[in-house]
Amino acid sequence: MYTLVRPFLFSLDPERAHDIALASLDLAAQLGLHKPPQSSQHIAPRTVMGLSFPNPVGLAAGLDKNAAHIPAMAALGFGFLEVGTITPRPQPGNPKPRLFRLPEAEALINRMGFNNQGVDVLLSNIRSCKHQGILGINIGKNFDTPIDRAAEDYLNAFRRVQGLASYVTINISSPNTQNLRTLQGAAELKALLSALAALREECGRSQGRHIPIAVKIAPDLSEAELDDIADILLSEKMDAVIATNTTLSRDGVSGLRNSQETGGLSGLPVRKRSLAVIKALHKRLEGKLPIIGVGGISDADSAKAALDAGASLIQIYTGLIYRGPALIDEICRALD
Ligand SMILES: Cc1cc2nc3c(=O)[nH]c(=O)nc-3n(C[C@H](O)[C@H](O)[C@H](O)COP(=O)(O)O)c2cc1C
Repeated sequence: MYTLVRPFLFSLDPERAHDIALASLDLAAQLGLHKPPQSSQHIAPRTVMGLSFPNPVGLAAGLDKNAAHIPAMAALGFGFLEVGTITPRPQPGNPKPRLFRLPEAEALINRMGFNNQGVDVLLSNIRSCKHQGILGINIGKNFDTPIDRAAEDYLNAFRRVQGLASYVTINISSPNTQNLRTLQGAAELKALLSALAALREECGRSQGRHIPIAVKIAPDLSEAELDDIADILLSEKMDAVIATNTTLSRDGVSGLRNSQETGGLSGLPVRKRSLAVIKALHKRLEGKLPIIGVGGISDADSAKAALDAGASLIQIYTGLIYRGPALIDEICRALD
């Protein structure tokens, strides 16, 4: 089905195609036309971060930033959904165009800049859909919050979302918010995570449960930086690391149309680097902290490669755009 629809979608501006595709999936879910494929219901189920995942294939952050499409995404058969990145206050993101296809490389470049409707809208969307499955909420800082006050945004957003989140992701790796990635530096990261860990304790006590925190990192980190990050994630008692976000590198796409656009590159060209990060983290973390693998997963083999490299769960975004929703079922069947 998707192979028939894709040429039409790809003839449109990418962001418009995104909106139309999501509106169609929403409609299909409302009419009950879409039911999760049987094969994806309980395939390779696992417990990670203390949560039970029916299958290990998740929706990566950024596709449903406002949690406005949860029923439609759940009907595709994902084992878990991650919504966001959400910021405390609404913000428009960067001027359009800000999303570009590189079809020859099955890749995208985006500089969306955390366009989102803010945490209040996200929470009301989540409340109204009464989703039963695992829901991660990915949080970030507003673009106009100075970087030395970033922690205030993360703490504020964490406090607001934790009651409705199965787990909360701390996104410090988007390349499209000025200086955000500096929060991956050892001193900055330790300060941020220790403040979040303290707040997590306080919120967890009143909720009577542990609130898992995952930290999402960039693929553009050196071995030494990864080592520091791994140590801090353990010492601050984080629950998972998500590897990786999009890359600033243009390896594998030079000369292709749109390859010089500013932003983060995703899809096939980031696969090798994401896999290397997963491997390096796995070695360093020695199984003490689960890894959620993301980056260029676009078929059963690349999904298995991420899991074999040490990931406990995987997520997909760009693969969904190029291969369509059947990709989820394809991966689940292969894992069966
Ligand atoms: C258009 C677009 C928007 C994204 N927005 C976010 C975001 O808001 N927060 C985030 O943590 N990651 C975001 N990502 C990164 C993805 O979640 C994922 O980490 C990255 O694209 C690599 O996976 P992929 O190759 O399967 O796309 C975005 C990716 C794309 C393509």
